[in-house]
Amino acid sequence: MRRHLFGLLPLLLVSAFCSSAQAADPVVIRFSHVVASNTPKGKAAEKFKELAESRSQGQVKVELYPNSQLYKDREEMEALQLGAVQMLAPSLSKFGPFGVREFEVFDLPFIFPDKSMLYATMDGEVGNRLFRKLEPKGVKGLAFWDNGFKQMSANRPLHEATDFKGLKMRIQSSKVLEAQMKALGANPQVMAFSEVYSALQQGVVDGTENPLSNIYTQKMHEVQKHLTLSNHGYLGYAVIVNKKFWDDLTPNIREILEKAIKETTTYERDIAQQENDNALAKITAAGTTTIYTLTSQQHESWKQALLPIQTEFQNVVGKDNIDAINKLVKKGTSKK
Ligand code: LMR
Repeated sequence: MRRHLFGLLPLLLVSAFCSSAQAADPVVIRFSHVVASNTPKGKAAEKFKELAESRSQGQVKVELYPNSQLYKDREEMEALQLGAVQMLAPSLSKFGPFGVREFEVFDLPFIFPDKSMLYATMDGEVGNRLFRKLEPKGVKGLAFWDNGFKQMSANRPLHEATDFKGLKMRIQSSKVLEAQMKALGANPQVMAFSEVYSALQQGVVDGTENPLSNIYTQKMHEVQKHLTLSNHGYLGYAVIVNKKFWDDLTPNIREILEKAIKETTTYERDIAQQENDNALAKITAAGTTTIYTLTSQQHESWKQALLPIQTEFQNVVGKDNIDAINKLVKKGTSKK
């Protein structure tokens, strides 16, 4: 017996060594996204990496994959569910094909007069409700990140709501955005973000919408002659993780990551507007695109064309969500 145990000793030592080596292996978070690194989302992803790695003293390693280098829009959602990546921050317009169309409440044109109401919506009852809907799909929502209000571009001036007639406009995979382009008389085309530049260049589509930071960093202004500062809709993000991955973390690591996300969210919301303002300055300086600001009369005519979508889509995005937003907006505007 003694001899037998003695014979086992090297094996026991090897296995003790292996398990301590395993315990020292860092938790790896593969974080994929579709935009450039010098955008609000790209910079926030870098900030999160820095905080998560330093605060965990190397117990967490964050691998960033920007610019669709790993997955395009739709593929990244599938990769998250399968556990091929652990973290994403898709735009709120991309949750429809995932089966949670309520996220498209953020796509409703002209629903948010300013960002304070947006943050109140994201961080309150509506945001919580949306995140709860992700859990049965194996996904957990951690935070909402900002980008900004969207602007319209094309190779034709877009001043009146009627100027969109017949244009092929690239949209994200959202039914609300589809209805928005149809209400303007345009022909919406769903397309992955990574394909927009070449589609515009080759004339596969005539125009698009995005916040300025995305337009500039993807060089869309180089292939769009006209840009209208319309602020007609909003684009933001939900930071999401694979739920099983998250639940399996040790409480200590989870707490470190939760704090890192919270701090990153404050940072991200602080820089988003500045990034968009910088992009406007750079697009202006590039001189490739005529930039137009709507008159108040034109703004009103866009609103008239697009506001009915709120009622048409209340069953899709949830009347409770629209009502909650309108209540916040009323409260916010009465304070001013
Ligand atoms: C788009 O597809 O137009 C944007 O949502 C990309 C992004 O993530 O900002």
